[in-house]
Amino acid sequence: MVQPFANPAGTSKTHNSQQGGRLLSGHVKLVPNERSGMPLQEWINEIPNTGLIRYRMRFNKEVVFVTSPKGLSEVLVQKSYEFVKPAKLRLGLGRILGVGLIVAEGSQHKKQRKLLMPAFLHRHIKDLYPIFWDKSVALARVLSENISPSQDKPAKVFDVADWLARATLDILGSAGLGEEFDTLHHPDNEICSAYRNVFEQKPPRGTLAMGAFFVREAFISIFGISRKDSISMATKTLTDVARRLIARKRSNRQVEGSKDQHDQGRDIISVMLASDSFTDRMLENHLLTFLAAGHETTATSMTWALYALCLYPNVQQQLRDEVRKALPQHIDQAHAAEPMKAELLDSLPYLHAVCNEVFRIYPPAGLTRRVAVQNTSILGQFIPAGTEIVISPRAVNVSKDLWGPDAATFNPDRWMRPSQANTGGGLTNFSFMTFLHGPRSCIGQGFARGEFASLLAALVGTFEMSLAQDPDIVIETGLTSRPKGGLLVQFRKI
Ligand code: HEM
Repeated sequence: MVQPFANPAGTSKTHNSQQGGRLLSGHVKLVPNERSGMPLQEWINEIPNTGLIRYRMRFNKEVVFVTSPKGLSEVLVQKSYEFVKPAKLRLGLGRILGVGLIVAEGSQHKKQRKLLMPAFLHRHIKDLYPIFWDKSVALARVLSENISPSQDKPAKVFDVADWLARATLDILGSAGLGEEFDTLHHPDNEICSAYRNVFEQKPPRGTLAMGAFFVREAFISIFGISRKDSISMATKTLTDVARRLIARKRSNRQVEGSKDQHDQGRDIISVMLASDSFTDRMLENHLLTFLAAGHETTATSMTWALYALCLYPNVQQQLRDEVRKALPQHIDQAHAAEPMKAELLDSLPYLHAVCNEVFRIYPPAGLTRRVAVQNTSILGQFIPAGTEIVISPRAVNVSKDLWGPDAATFNPDRWMRPSQANTGGGLTNFSFMTFLHGPRSCIGQGFARGEFASLLAALVGTFEMSLAQDPDIVIETGLTSRPKGGLLVQFRKI
C-alpha cells in the first residue's frame, strides 16, 4: 500500500511530548516542522491522551494541542471569542490584508461575518459554477497548447504549482470580483507578481529571527516609519488594484442603477455592493482578504490532489471514467457545451469522494493557533490567559480514534459507503477539520469546493498524469503547506 506521503519529511520520531524538554527551547527540537502539523499527526495517535496534549516551545512557553471533538468544539464554537489569533499572525496578515475578516476579532468580526455571509450562501455560489468550469477548461486548454503535437504520444512535464496558482487567481478574479485577470496567459501580470512576492516571504524562524521581527515591527509602529520592503510594495500594488476595481464597480452600478442585482453581476463583490452595507475601505479589505485567502489555499490543495492522483493511478482512472462518462460534451467540446450546472458537477459521487479525501489527507492549513484572552478552561482543564492553543487539521483528520485503524490511508472509497457521503465514516463532524468549524470556519468553503471539483474534473478528464520527480517530498510551510520547490507532473493528452 502506497502511503499518502511517500516520505513525510520533517516527521519527528518523538513519542512522549512531556519528556526531553530543554531549559530555554522546550520541545522545539522535537517539532521541527510544527507549522505543517506533521509531527502532531503522529502524536495524536501515539501519545495516550484524553483530548489535550501539552508541549513547550521557546522559553518554555506552554502550548496546548487539542485532539478531541469535544475540546475542539469548546475552542471553536462554545468559547470561540475567548480564543483569538496570536498577535504575530494578525500583525503579519494585517499588513497584507488590512483588517478584513481573517484579522478581525470579537464584535468587529461578528459584525463583518454577518454582513458577508449572504454573499457566500449556496444560492449565490451555485451561480458561479459556470465560471469555475470555464476557467478550469481554460487551464486544460493552455496546458494542451503547450504540449507539442508533433510527438507520437504528446506529453509534457509541467511544474503544476505555479499554473494552479494562476488558474485559481483567475477564478477569484472572475467569480469573486467580476474581473478578468487572465494570468494564465499573462504570468507577469501585476497581481500575479505581487502575490509571488507575498507568498515567497518566509515567516521568521528561530528565536533570534523572531525577536528581531518583533523589535522591528515595534519600531515601525511606534515611530510611524514608512516601509519600502517587497511586501509593502506588493501590498501597495494590490491595494491600488482593489481601489480601481471597486471604483469601476460602483460607477457601473450607478450607470445601470435600474437593473436588478442579478443583472449587475453574480460575483461576490457585486453581491456585497448590492447590499449597500459596505464602505469602500471595508470592500478593499475584504477584497484583499478573499484574494489572498482564496487562491493560494485552493491552488495548494490542487497541487496535492495531482500528487495523490499520481501516487494512486487506480483512483485517477476511476475518476476519469466517471468524469468522461458524465460530462462528455463539457470535456470535449467546451465551446459548444451548455454552461456547467452546480447540480451536475455536485452529482458525481466519486468526484465528491476524491475531493473530500484530498481535503482530509492533505489540508493546506495543517495547523492554526489561538491564544486564550482570559483565564478559561477546555475539557474542564484550567487554561490561564495567554496560553497558546494549537488546532491541527492535519492531525485530527487522521486520528485513529475518530477514523478507525486505516485513518492515515488515502482511500476515497470511505466516502462512497452507504450513508457516508458526507462524513466519510468520521465519528463526528469535528473529525474533518480542513475548513475548521464554528464562527471562524472558512467562509469560502462552498466556493473552494466548487472550483476544486471543476479544476480536478477538467484536468483528469483531459490528461493522464504521472509524477516526473521523486515521490519523496518535503513539505514547505509558509501561509500554506505545499510541496517544497513545486511539483513536476507529466501531462499526456488523452
Ligand atoms: C481549499 C481551499 C480552502 C481551505 C482549505 C481553506 C481553509 C480555511 C481555514 C482552515 C480557515 C480558518 C483559519 C483560522 O481561523 O485559523 C479559513 C478561513 C477563511 N477563509 Fe478559507 N480556505 C479555502 C478557500 C477559501 C476561499 C476560496 C475563500 C474566499 C473566496 C476563503 C476565505 C476565507 C476567509 C475570509 C476566512 C476567514 C473566516 C473568518 O475568520 O471568519 N477561503 N479558511
